[in-house]
Amino acid sequence: APLDSSINDPFVLSRPDVHDISATIGNDLVGTDHPVLNSAARYFFTNEDDGKGKGKQVRPVMVMLLSRAMMQMGTSDMPHLNNHALKSQRRLAEITEMIHTASLFHDDVIDNADTRRGKPAAHKAFGNKMAILAGDYLLARASICLARLRNVDVVECMSTVIEHLVRGEVLQIKDSRTGVADIEGYLRKNFYKTASLMAYSCKSAALLGAGHGGNVTSEMVEAAYRYGKHIGVSFQLIDDALDFEGSAISLGKPALADLNAGLSTAPVFFAAETHGDELIPAMVRKFKGEGDIDLALNCIQDAGGVIRTKELAAIHAELAIDAVVKALEPSPYRDSLVHLACRVVVRSR
Ligand code: FPP
Ligand code: MG
Ligand code: MG
Repeated sequence: APLDSSINDPFVLSRPDVHDISATIGNDLVGTDHPVLNSAARYFFTNEDDGKGKGKQVRPVMVMLLSRAMMQMGTSDMPHLNNHALKSQRRLAEITEMIHTASLFHDDVIDNADTRRGKPAAHKAFGNKMAILAGDYLLARASICLARLRNVDVVECMSTVIEHLVRGEVLQIKDSRTGVADIEGYLRKNFYKTASLMAYSCKSAALLGAGHGGNVTSEMVEAAYRYGKHIGVSFQLIDDALDFEGSAISLGKPALADLNAGLSTAPVFFAAETHGDELIPAMVRKFKGEGDIDLALNCIQDAGGVIRTKELAAIHAELAIDAVVKALEPSPYRDSLVHLACRVVVRSR
């Protein structure tokens, strides 16, 4: 059975744990008696038949698969402990998705994006003020849920994520002011804006497993963190590559958004290594000069910038795989974590 790739498909294997996360958030966790706030906060959590709005739910999938993979180790003879752990890990997955969605409400205002997950962005549907407040409200509800997990280490992890999200966004605004950063600065920013949430939610899943008497060692907690971190870095690199390759229709959001916003991402930095003389001035101008966008696209094409970005993403996916393979016993869940790392690199949306 473990050789059947459909059985170890992360999205299939996590389905029983993840399929109603969106409904639980929308129905139980963020309801309020104020009609406008209610519909804004639940905007991405109402299950429409066409599946629009939910997104890929990669973070809940990771949290639940890791939780199950760690559970394979030593506690299968104690089902009640497992059930307590799983319940809290599922709540963690919901909290993770709420924090992520809150950050997207704010992000789409900052980026002035029209669409998200195949729908109008929240601020297009409700206006900037309501979108910001709905994001704050989601964050507040996520914080209450977090406190109710009664695990201060997990509270610290997830609060750190919120700090990092803000820091990543500020770094990005600063880069877009000056038009340049270096690739190290770019990777640091990517950690804050994307990898931190994945790293700390995975670590928190492990901490909750340990907190409920599971056989979770500090080595496994560290491996969970590294898995999430490297998946996150890989995920953001692919996101930045797709911005050059995808179309608005395939992505569910506008393409070439980064260049148009004046932002240099990995493909640009790779191209600047060999085409710096032409490219760096355009980067400094934030691609606002006549023909700058075409110049950047030509340099990236010539230098294989998108391919090199995907290669770096593949290296990080390997590091993620390495972390779980070394620390966790073999199981279908562990296999599916490996599959997920591969899927991140080959995804097209
Ligand atoms: C998407 O990046 C944005 C993020 C991953 C984080 C945004 C964080 C904030 C706005 C800080 C406020 C945080 C909270 C928790 C309320 P992107 O714009 O590169 O990706 P996109 O193409 O999906 O828009
Ligand atoms: Mg954005
Ligand atoms: Mg943004």
